[in-house]
Amino acid sequence: MNWQAWRDEFPILSRTTYLNSCSLGALGRRAQARVATFQEEWSAWGAAAWYELWMGRLAELRRRVAALLGAAQTEIALQPSTSVALAAVASAVDYRRRPRIVVAELDFPTLAYQWMVRPDVEVVRVPSDDGATIDPQRFADAVDDRTAILATSHVFFTTGAIQDLRALADIAHARGALFLVDAYQSAGQVPIDVHRDDVDILTTGPLKWLLGGPGLAYLYVREALLEALRPTMTGWFGARDQFDFDIARFEFKDDARRFELGTPSLPSVHFALGGQEVIDEIGVPAIRERNRVLTERLVAAAQAAGLRLRVAPDADARSAIVMIADADPAGAVAHLAERGIIVDWRPGFVRISPHFYNTEAEIDRVVEELVAWRS
Ligand SMILES: Cc1ncc(COP(=O)(O)O)c(C=O)c1O
Repeated sequence: MNWQAWRDEFPILSRTTYLNSCSLGALGRRAQARVATFQEEWSAWGAAAWYELWMGRLAELRRRVAALLGAAQTEIALQPSTSVALAAVASAVDYRRRPRIVVAELDFPTLAYQWMVRPDVEVVRVPSDDGATIDPQRFADAVDDRTAILATSHVFFTTGAIQDLRALADIAHARGALFLVDAYQSAGQVPIDVHRDDVDILTTGPLKWLLGGPGLAYLYVREALLEALRPTMTGWFGARDQFDFDIARFEFKDDARRFELGTPSLPSVHFALGGQEVIDEIGVPAIRERNRVLTERLVAAAQAAGLRLRVAPDADARSAIVMIADADPAGAVAHLAERGIIVDWRPGFVRISPHFYNTEAEIDRVVEELVAWRS
C-alpha cells in the first residue's frame, strides 16, 4: 500500500500535522466530490432526485456499512446520531423482568444516559482495575438474569483499549441478556464482524475513523431480533408503506429500517459515502496494520522520553488512541496547535490519535514537541 499517495486525498494534511482522527476524521476529496454532486443534482432535478437518485444513495450507504460490519443490508438502519439510535433501541425493550443495564465505567457517557433517564431501569457500571481496560470477568460478575442488556464499547474513547466482543457476547447470552456494542471508536480502524462475534445490536457512525463527518450514525440489529424489538419512538421512514400516507394505519418495516425515523441529512449521507469509499478501497485489515505501526511507534517514543501513558498493557489490545498524562493537557494542546500539530485532551491527558494517512515523522515530531513543552 502506498500510504504516502493517500495523503493527497486529505488537504488538511498539507497544512497541519493532524493527529485527532478519533474526534473527527480528515475531510477527503472524495467526500467533497460526493457533496458537490449532491448539490448539482439538487439544483438540476429538484425533488425528483429523491426517487431517482437519493433513495438509492441511502441503500448504497446501508450496503457499504453492512459489508463493513459483516452484517446483512437488511440489518442496518441510518440514524441522525448514536444517541438517537440508542434511544430507539432503549424504547423497544421490555424491562419488567429484566430492569438492569450493565455498562463499563470507561464507556462514552451517552451509552449510560439512555437508561439513566428511565425510572424503570437500574444502570450498573462495571469498574476498571487499571484505568485502561476492563477484565471480562468483571462483566461476568455484573451480568445476571435480571440484566436486559450488556452494553459497552468495542474501543474505549478514553484509552483506545479494544475489548473482546466474542467473550462479552458469550457472557451476556449465558444470562439471557442482549449484547449491544458502541463501535464508534472502532469502525474504520479495527475489523468488525457482528455475525462471527454474535453481536445483537451495534451503533457507530462516520464522524471519526470512517472519514465521513457529522450528522449521521448507523445502527445494526440482528435479524432474528427485529420482529421482537418494536420501538416506541418512530416516524414515517420506519413505516412499511411509507408512501401510502395513511394516517390511520402504522406497521413497521420488516427489516432494520423499522428503527429509522424521519428524513435523513442528505449532505451527511454524501460526505459519509465519500469517506466510506476510501475505507472500502483500502480495507480495514490494512488500516489496522498501518495504525498498529504508527501507534506502537508513538507508544515506544513516548515511553522512551519518560512520558506516562494510559493505554492497554497488551499491544494487541491497543488501537490508535494514545493517552499521555500531563498536568496541563489544555495548555499542551494549545502549545502544539501553535506549532501546527492538532491533538486533543481529556482531563489529565493529551489524546493523540493517528490514522493511516499520518507518517512516522509526524509521530516523532509530536513526541518531540510534547517533551519540549514540558521542559
Ligand atoms: C464511543 C463514542 N460513542 C458515541 C459518541 C457520540 O455519539 P453521538 O453520535 O450521539 O454524538 C462518541 C463521540 O462523539 C464516542 O466516542
